[in-house]
Amino acid sequence: MAVLVTGGAGYIGSHTVAALLERGEDIVVVDSLQQGHRSAVLGGKLYVGDLRDADFLEGVFAENDIDAVIHFAANSLVGESMKDPGKYYHNNVYGTLCLLEAMNRHQVGKIVFSSTAATYGEPENVPIGEHDRTLPTNAYGETKLAMEKMMKWFDIAHGIKYISLRYFNAAGAHESGRIGEDHQPETHLIPIVLQAALGQRPHISVFGEDYDTPDGTCIRDYIHVSDLAEAHVLAVGRLRGGAESAVYNLGNGQGFSVKQVIDIAREVTGRDIPSVVEPRRSGDPAVLVASSERARTELGWNPTRNKLEDIILSAWKWHSSNPQGYDD
Ligand code: UFG
Repeated sequence: MAVLVTGGAGYIGSHTVAALLERGEDIVVVDSLQQGHRSAVLGGKLYVGDLRDADFLEGVFAENDIDAVIHFAANSLVGESMKDPGKYYHNNVYGTLCLLEAMNRHQVGKIVFSSTAATYGEPENVPIGEHDRTLPTNAYGETKLAMEKMMKWFDIAHGIKYISLRYFNAAGAHESGRIGEDHQPETHLIPIVLQAALGQRPHISVFGEDYDTPDGTCIRDYIHVSDLAEAHVLAVGRLRGGAESAVYNLGNGQGFSVKQVIDIAREVTGRDIPSVVEPRRSGDPAVLVASSERARTELGWNPTRNKLEDIILSAWKWHSSNPQGYDD
C-alpha cells in the first residue's frame, strides 16, 4: 500500500517524504510544482498536476494502491491571501473537495492534514490548546479551517478519518543537507534573516517593536521541520491503527521574539546582520505559542531538535550551501 503525499515537493511535504522513505514506505507524490521543487522529492513516484484537475487525480488513484493521504498541497501566504482570497478558496478549499471526493470514490479512508496555527487567530490563551476558539484573522487561516471542517463532514458521512496537524512556525532543514526551505518569494523570518547574513539582502526588517511583549517584537514558537515530518509519520500510523479523527497542535511550547531570533542567528552565523525597525505587518498576532501536550500523549510525538540555535544552524547549513535554493 502506498501513501499519497499532495504537495510533497514543498518545504514541509519534502521533509515528510524523506521521513516516510526512511521508514521504507511506498510513496506517491502529487505536486503542481508551482511552489514545490522537483529535486526536493527524494524518492517515490512523482505526478505533476493539480488536484482540481479531475481526470488527472482520477488517474493517480486508479494507477496506485493508496491507503492513506497526507495533504499539504495549498497556497500558504497570509499577506497574499488578504489581497487575493479567491485564489485561496479555489486552490485550498476546492482542491481539498476534489481530493476528498476522489478518496471517497476509491474508498481511501485516512487523511493527515497540514493545518496551521492561523486557524486560531488572536489567541485566547497562551499557550494555545486545541479546544481554544478558532477565529482566523486572515483568509489563509479561514480556508485551512474550512478544509478541516470539510473533513469532519466527510468523516460523518463517509467514514474518512482525518488527523489535522496545526503547525506553529516551521523552520530548519534536513540533516542530510539535501533539502531545505526555498520559497519564491520568501516571506518567513528565519530564511530572510539568513539571506541578510549571506549579504543577499541589505538588512532584515523587523515588523513592529511596539507589541505587548518584553522587547516589543512578536513572539513565535519555532519547530524543526524534521520534527514536524515525524508527526505526520506517527499520524499515518495512528490512523492505520483505527484511531478516530483528531486535531493536534505541533510546536515547541517555547516562544522567541523576532529580536531574539536575529540575535541567535548572529551568533550561529558569526555574521553581522543589520536590522531596521519598520511598521507592523497586518494580521500578525503578538504571541503564538503552542501547547502540544495532546500530540505528545496521544500521537507519542517527541520532538528532539528543540534548541532554536540548532534549528537555525540546520537552516544556515542549507542556505549557505544553496544560496540560490534548488537548481530548478
Ligand atoms: N517578521 C519580520 N520580518 C520579516 C519577516 C517576518 O519581522 O521580514 C516577523 C513577523 O512579523 C512575525 C514573525 O517574524 O512576527 C514570524 O513571521 P513569519 O512570516 O516567519 O511567520 P508567521 O508567524 O507570520 O507565519 C507562520 C506561517 C504561516 C502560518 C502562521 C501561523 O508561515 O503559514 O505561522 O501562525 F499561518
